[in-house]
Amino acid sequence: MLQYPASAADWRLKAQARLPRFLFDYADGGATDEQTLRANEADWARITLRQRVLRDVDGVDTRSTLAGQPCALPLALAPIGLAGLMARRGEVQAARAAEAAGVPFTLSTVGICPLAEVMNAVQRPIWFQLYMLRDRGIVSALLQRAWAAGCRTLVFTVDLPISGMRHRDTCNGLSAPAAQAALIKATQLLARPGWIWDVGVKGKPHAFGNLSDQVPAAQDMDAFKAWVDTQFDPTVTWDDIEWVRQQWPGTVLLKGILDEDDARAAVQTGVQGLIVSNHGGRQLDGVASTAAKLPGICRAVDGALAVLVDGGVRSGVDVFRALALGAQGVLIGRPWVWALAGGGEAGLTELLRRWQQELKLAMTLAGVTCVADIGPQHVETLA
Ligand code: FNR
Repeated sequence: MLQYPASAADWRLKAQARLPRFLFDYADGGATDEQTLRANEADWARITLRQRVLRDVDGVDTRSTLAGQPCALPLALAPIGLAGLMARRGEVQAARAAEAAGVPFTLSTVGICPLAEVMNAVQRPIWFQLYMLRDRGIVSALLQRAWAAGCRTLVFTVDLPISGMRHRDTCNGLSAPAAQAALIKATQLLARPGWIWDVGVKGKPHAFGNLSDQVPAAQDMDAFKAWVDTQFDPTVTWDDIEWVRQQWPGTVLLKGILDEDDARAAVQTGVQGLIVSNHGGRQLDGVASTAAKLPGICRAVDGALAVLVDGGVRSGVDVFRALALGAQGVLIGRPWVWALAGGGEAGLTELLRRWQQELKLAMTLAGVTCVADIGPQHVETLA
């Protein structure tokens, strides 16, 4: 049977062929020269696994728990703003694929589909991601709605006081005079009639479902960026975590920790976990990869809270590497967007199925049968 697309890279090419260029680049690109984006991927590849033989590897099991939640493999779909433009009602399709695969789906504050629409499509609660807005009343209402809908895990993103500078977006007309921007966008849209019909027409509405009263139309990237830069709250400090915890009785994961000192500070806040992340290389270009920072951060927190990681994870083997370096699990961003854009719900289901197989294979050939036993003893070189 033909097995294409097989890898995340294959799905990326499919996504590129389906999406209008400004959307593909929005998802694919990183900050300025994209050094951190490249390092995120390259540094996992530098971690060499140890092949071990003649161990009983019957019954290898990829099941685990992520921030207290049982999952089929230790992986969650990361929050992605505008994901609903990558395929028709994209967040709904992705949440269904994640549920079928037995992994958590995280809905972004700036997703297209409203929380209620996504929750209607699944049986089990999804995770909800929060960006802190200047208007705490809006944030409070948002959290109350998520809690009432059944969400119990809050991913609080702390690495975006303002959005990073992304050259690809600028080249696609972001910040250009309106007429020029419209021309660039129209040209790119005309090259993708399939997307126009499937998502542009049949996938409406394209509002930001969780903030529809607050934000301009989602397709207008310029207005979106301007809104982010005025409404996201850059004054947030460690003291505000306590406020968030008061609003949210469930699990809180701080997303965007990349420094050992910040990881130690996170322990003091009493949150349940942190996500080692540089926002997929989309914020400060030139910072270290997450693979490079993960071991030090694990040492710094010394088991006091759950440590998850994202950035550049591109296969089930990379999931194994992250676990070997001390993470409890990973989040993936672009790979799920590529599979969703390239093949819809079925595409994402296929990607997740394959990654679980890859993780299982890696465990088998490294001679380890359960996720909890994966550790530094299974790799030769730490980044
Ligand atoms: C993101 N990311 C992100 N993070 C977040 O907390 N809220 C959000 O709305 C978004 N939006 C978003 C859009 C797009 C297109 C990308 C690529 C990323 C960051 C995301 O959750 C995650 O940290 C990275 O994507 C992980 O890196 P990889 O897996 O994409 O390399």
